[in-house]
Amino acid sequence: MCARNTRILFGKPVADAILTSVRKKVATLKGRPPSVVFLRVGDDGASVSYVKQKAKCASEVGIQGETRVFDETTTEERLLAEIIRLNEDPNVDGILVQLPFPKHVNTLNILRAVDSKKDVDGFTDVNGGRLWQGDGSLIPCTPAGIVELLKYYRIATEGKQVVIVNRSSIVGKPLAALLLRHSEFGNATVTVCHSYTQNLSDITKQADILVLACGKPHAFGRDYVKESAVVIDVGINRVPADNERGYMIRGDADMEALTGYVDALTPVPGGIGPLTVAMLMKNTLQAYYLCQQP
Ligand code: GUN
Repeated sequence: MCARNTRILFGKPVADAILTSVRKKVATLKGRPPSVVFLRVGDDGASVSYVKQKAKCASEVGIQGETRVFDETTTEERLLAEIIRLNEDPNVDGILVQLPFPKHVNTLNILRAVDSKKDVDGFTDVNGGRLWQGDGSLIPCTPAGIVELLKYYRIATEGKQVVIVNRSSIVGKPLAALLLRHSEFGNATVTVCHSYTQNLSDITKQADILVLACGKPHAFGRDYVKESAVVIDVGINRVPADNERGYMIRGDADMEALTGYVDALTPVPGGIGPLTVAMLMKNTLQAYYLCQQP
């Protein structure tokens, strides 16, 4: 078996192209800039870091971002009242509620309360339903970013076997809907796997495009992947490390084992992560346009 020249699919050039386009469009707008409010509950380390990245990126493209932090013990009623207030605020275009929430808060109740025009995460029932009907305009950021990456690197999906190891409403389900669409970067045959899937490696080995997002660092090596596959690694796992932070970020793919074996793979960090943030900026601009409509 000869070693393959595995392409590393970096997210940064794709994210930069999206952000440049958003920045240019924002610069031409008259009046106030697009605005987004980030709601965070508690001090979960990963959530703090994600919201910081989102706020920084917003300011870099000329979007006004504001972060509101609530105590871990904040009630569902208090959060719902805040969302209703933001829904009615004409100076707010986008509302993002950073997940996960503390256990005493019903996440669906909160997500459902967001005005669908301001739903920059695409998590409301309305936007989820539209996506499955094939006419969504506010699409969850990580799946939308994956499709942008496939387009940028000209990785065709039509007629391909795509296996997604994740069934969440943030990644797996919306990605399946996108890849099933009647469109150039849709038309795939999609299989969604999850924690009850049996003989997982038999299924993942069929994939032309394998999307990993199950939170198991380094779990997917050659036993799970066919040669010639494209591996999209959405895993963001903190693994203990002897450095200042005490951890490093690793994906679900065993990158070392797969490099030289698969056709292409996204690195972690530096693959899908930057795209999630870039698509959020694109969605915020879209929400601004939606909110301008009568
Ligand atoms: N938590 C993990 N990923 C996401 C995301 O894409 N959006 C929000 N709001 N929370 C998350």
